[in-house]
Amino acid sequence: MEKFVIEGGKRLNGEVRISGAKNSALPIIAGSLLTDKPLILENIPCLNDVTTMLQLVKTIGASLSFKKNRLQIHTGQLRQIEAPYDIVRKMRASYYVLGALIARAGRARVSLPGGCAIGPRPIDLHIKGLRALGTKIEIEGGYINARGRRLHGAKIDLQGPKGTSVGATINVMIAATAARGTTEITSAACEPEVIDVANFLNFLGAEISGQGTHTIVIKGGKTLGTGSYRIIPDRIETGTFAVAAAMTRGKIKIAHCVPEHLSSVIDKFQEIGVRIEALNNTLIIDGSGEKHATNIFVAPYPGFPTDMQAQFMALLSIVPGTSTIKETIFENRFMQAVELMRMGAEITIEGDTAVINGVGRLSGAYVMASDLRASAALVLAGLAARGKTVVRRIYHLDRGYEKFEVKLRKLGARIKREKE
Ligand code: UD1
Repeated sequence: MEKFVIEGGKRLNGEVRISGAKNSALPIIAGSLLTDKPLILENIPCLNDVTTMLQLVKTIGASLSFKKNRLQIHTGQLRQIEAPYDIVRKMRASYYVLGALIARAGRARVSLPGGCAIGPRPIDLHIKGLRALGTKIEIEGGYINARGRRLHGAKIDLQGPKGTSVGATINVMIAATAARGTTEITSAACEPEVIDVANFLNFLGAEISGQGTHTIVIKGGKTLGTGSYRIIPDRIETGTFAVAAAMTRGKIKIAHCVPEHLSSVIDKFQEIGVRIEALNNTLIIDGSGEKHATNIFVAPYPGFPTDMQAQFMALLSIVPGTSTIKETIFENRFMQAVELMRMGAEITIEGDTAVINGVGRLSGAYVMASDLRASAALVLAGLAARGKTVVRRIYHLDRGYEKFEVKLRKLGARIKREKE
């Protein structure tokens, strides 16, 4: 296992370039199974979740070449229709091959993902949507066995108990490209990654409209082709670097990002007192000013993203005054709080709300990463803290950030990766 050793207290300055979006890359790689033609995917981030997805599609029959964020992928024939437990347990997003295999082969056998550190994560909405398209689904021995040779269009409402579902919207949209007739998904998620997957499928020849709204219409049964597609920049990586500037009172230019994808986060920065300016595909953040406490309400897009909640908790822990964060999407997503408290943060958790009493400064400590975004929050806290911070179990972070410490070092951070 590896850890980060951070000497905190250094202002970050300079320019950072944002990588491709993990949450677009994963379903788009799975979606490439829809066609038997070769494809090129550009701007694919090199990170562990992508490696896991590549391993999975390779098992299924894809031939691959992945160099310098450019993926050549060709699944001329399927070798198998199974996503085995050994791969799915490493990454829940493996379930994206379910929709793609049903569409391509009319059959799929995908291990159920099981538990997750940030709370229960059912996939009932995926199953509901796929059944509505005419797929027969049984759960047996921890696997989803799906059969659906003649998919048909349907009206499907994907409203869940916590609002919309990114995963279910994408999985059903992918499967519906092969259904005869028209599918209408209502209560669809409108995250930029859903739009990116729809644009990718349209680029292959699908006929999807309404992406980015709560109603998506898919005219199925089109023949899908070949070509080269570039995925969008990662909005969560962008937001994470912006918090790094805010927390270290530095000034960072974030290049190759899409500021519109971060409107709610930019509004929050401005409310707190962080100067942030958007220019085309660049953000300039100046964290040197005085900051104020705030209240954050996490919600599906275009609301404040749950994937930025942990990083803002780290930031608010050093902003004077009392702030609150209400997390409405995942039940157990405050795990960074106890670790931040080891660094001197004052946080109390009351149900789905964290109350943060800003302390002027954190102090370095040994802390343990528990999930992807919590890990990022601890690194950010370490960069701003006085003294040395050691963040252990950084394999969580490696799942979702490309060259995180390399990019931070270029901005002046003192951070090293070491073996445990
Ligand atoms: C995706 C993102 C993740 C992000 C999350 C919410 C990927 C690979 N991951 O996860 O980074 O934090 O969106 O923006 O893109 N739900 C159900 N039944 C279902 C599916 C979901 O009840 O069948 C619930 C979930 O438990 C959760 C809520 O709906 O409470 C939203 O989950 P969802 O949007 O599906 O998250 P993911 O797609 O898993």
